[in-house]
Amino acid sequence: MNFPISRFESIETPFYFYDLSLLQQTLNELKKAEEAHPRFHVHYAIKANANPRILQLIAAKGFGADCVSGGEVQAALNAGFPADKIVFAGVGKSDKEISLSLKAGISCFNVESTPELEVINTIAASLGVTARVALRVNPNIDAHTHAKITTGLNENKFGIPAEDLVKVIAFVKTLKNLELVGVHYHIGSQITEPEPFRHLCEHINEWQEKLRAEGISLPGINVGGGLGIDYVAPDANPIPPFADHLDLFARHLNLREDQELHFELGRSVVAQCGSLISRVLYVKEGHTKKFLIVDAGFTDLIRPALYDAHHFTQNISATDQTATATYDVVGPICESSDVFSENEHLPLSHRGDLIAFRSAGAYGEVMASTYNCRTLPAAVFSEE
Ligand SMILES: Cc1ncc(COP(=O)(O)O)c(C=O)c1O
Repeated sequence: MNFPISRFESIETPFYFYDLSLLQQTLNELKKAEEAHPRFHVHYAIKANANPRILQLIAAKGFGADCVSGGEVQAALNAGFPADKIVFAGVGKSDKEISLSLKAGISCFNVESTPELEVINTIAASLGVTARVALRVNPNIDAHTHAKITTGLNENKFGIPAEDLVKVIAFVKTLKNLELVGVHYHIGSQITEPEPFRHLCEHINEWQEKLRAEGISLPGINVGGGLGIDYVAPDANPIPPFADHLDLFARHLNLREDQELHFELGRSVVAQCGSLISRVLYVKEGHTKKFLIVDAGFTDLIRPALYDAHHFTQNISATDQTATATYDVVGPICESSDVFSENEHLPLSHRGDLIAFRSAGAYGEVMASTYNCRTLPAAVFSEE
């Protein structure tokens, strides 16, 4: 990625830089992949990045939205996502969030428990409407990703156990203000191998047969998100393999003629277009290590502290890339976990140099906090 470094000189660090032309190219690829399968529908998972300008671009491309809070439903509506393309998941939807979503006329609630079904039914009845619901099923599939972003195992809090599906479907049918429109799955995030998705297809195929034997047929299947990106070499692989991902489901999932398949992609859509730009405050010589202390911390990008994530790190000011040193790259927050990476090989770095943490467009800005009374990072766009 080419950074407009002279423009950066006048911007207060740390900030997020978004390459909107890369985002457009990514959206074009995703649209092409989606259009190759007429009954496939992609919803962008707002949780990955809810920056209004980014949401507007994604909405303008005609994708739906996947939300996990009332605030996200509102952000999606504000950005121009049509209500009938908005789906709403989450284990703990509040009455206020359910009410807001029903009034907006969203496409579907992805429901995670029987008590939630009862509450949605009661609120829908009080508003005189019918709520469309899909049941989020926990398929007990290992996504082979970091434990903190694995969601489809029995020990995870998400969804209802597959074994309870028939019983819960029978229960939904007793609730007058609900219409059951499908089943929903999301097994985890940053999944870079096809196997977990193939297992998911096998699981769904098996359960479709079991449901069919019970006389149950559902029009919608939502397989969630999870497609991983290349954090190691973002310039070599700036756009994730969307066509392969969608083709995998076309090949392995037995979708009937009258069924639609929904996806909820977050990270893969926005991660590569964003970088966190920070400045070196100090180069500190420890006894055994050299520390590069930058002005960004986990308040700006929490993924390394939260998920042991590593972001490809570049000194974008260094003119001599041949003389290098090994640094622990750390932030200013008063917590030992405020470390971006250990033993990072970088060009010799100096106070004032700009450091870019790449692939930070997903789960970056959106997770920023003001801990230590810090200021939230600004967003800067390639086309200003
Ligand atoms: C229900 C649901 N759908 C979709 C996503 C998006 O996942 P990803 O960003 O890995 O595509 C998430 C992320 O955690 C999620 O919880």
